[in-house]
Amino acid sequence: MRIFVTGGAGYVGSHCVKRLVAAGHEVAVYDNLIAGHRQAVDRVAEFIEGDLADIEKLKRVLPAGRFDAVMHFAAYLNVGESVQQPLMYYRNNVANTLNLLEAMKPARIKRIVFSSSCAVYGVPDDLPITEDLPKDPINPYGSTKLAMEWIMRDSAAAWGLGSVALRYFNAAGAAADGTIGEDHKPEIHLIPLVLQVALGQRESIGIFGSDYPTPDGTCIRDYIHVDDLADVHLLAVERLTEGKSQAFNVGTGHGRSVLEIIAAARRVAGHAIPAVLTDRRPGDPPELYADSDKLRHHYDWQPRYTDLEKIIATAWRWHQAHPNGYGSV
Ligand SMILES: NC(=O)c1ccc[n+]([C@@H]2O[C@H](COP(=O)([O-])OP(=O)(O)OC[C@H]3O[C@@H](n4cnc5c(N)ncnc54)[C@H](O)[C@@H]3O)[C@@H](O)[C@H]2O)c1
Repeated sequence: MRIFVTGGAGYVGSHCVKRLVAAGHEVAVYDNLIAGHRQAVDRVAEFIEGDLADIEKLKRVLPAGRFDAVMHFAAYLNVGESVQQPLMYYRNNVANTLNLLEAMKPARIKRIVFSSSCAVYGVPDDLPITEDLPKDPINPYGSTKLAMEWIMRDSAAAWGLGSVALRYFNAAGAAADGTIGEDHKPEIHLIPLVLQVALGQRESIGIFGSDYPTPDGTCIRDYIHVDDLADVHLLAVERLTEGKSQAFNVGTGHGRSVLEIIAAARRVAGHAIPAVLTDRRPGDPPELYADSDKLRHHYDWQPRYTDLEKIIATAWRWHQAHPNGYGSV
């Protein structure tokens, strides 16, 4: 297949591009590099520097490229920033998704796999989270992801779009061969922040809240390896049905607390990684972990990485070799 990948130079997108190319697909990455890295897709895929806000450009490149499908990763994803700047988030995540679909429709591209998030559930009533639980986001970021899902669903009925929304839990780790990894600036994710302490780039890691109703008092999340996410994207795009919109949780089904992550990182990196307890952050649900049975059954899929230390070890390998991210090479 020929696949157009928005945000393919970013963290999750670049790992998926690598997987698609390894499976024999032809890939063109479309990215404005606001948060992505040209080096992350160098030599693996065609690269088009472009912004999803530029609908005229999308209307030129999509029909010209004769694409069979789109994978849509491009978005803003900082929850705290979305609370401060909701319009910026709706503009990039929702309005720019409309641009993409408006360019796909005349180009007769009717297949899209896109990044949704467990943020669509807000604070779930029940655990583990199944796809049919109420969608009730508690921040603008989650609302933009839910809005994207609705747009895809309505497009299925109206013009036969086939879509798969992959609701990731926490993406983690780096490519097992050490070639690409996570480089967000500013970094907002727990595992890279913890590893920055092990690298001597931070003095300590802050723990936001230790009085949650969880066994050790810290928040619990479901960490899914980025190469497992890449496998799921490959299955989704290859088996997608036009005219149908589907949504799947993508997680391991195991919740890990902040303290468990720090303890595992200490073992992997052989560093004390000092931690400092601070107050809760507003808007952090105590526990989020996936029931991913629907995905497992539908695609006969299972995560390759269920061992937390192995997940962190792939990230550690990348961060040690690239202490300043892609700027290190
Ligand atoms: N990282 C996670 O844990 C996680 C969890 C759930 C969902 N997601 C979703 O997965 C997707 C990818 O996340 P990531 O961690 O790889 O983020 P990322 O910031 O590394 O990647 C996003 C990419 O999109 C590009 N981009 C953003 N706006 C663009 C625009 N207007 N035009 C063109 N390119 C644009 C950026 O330059 C970047 O390369 C996002 O949609 C995010 O909401 C991520």
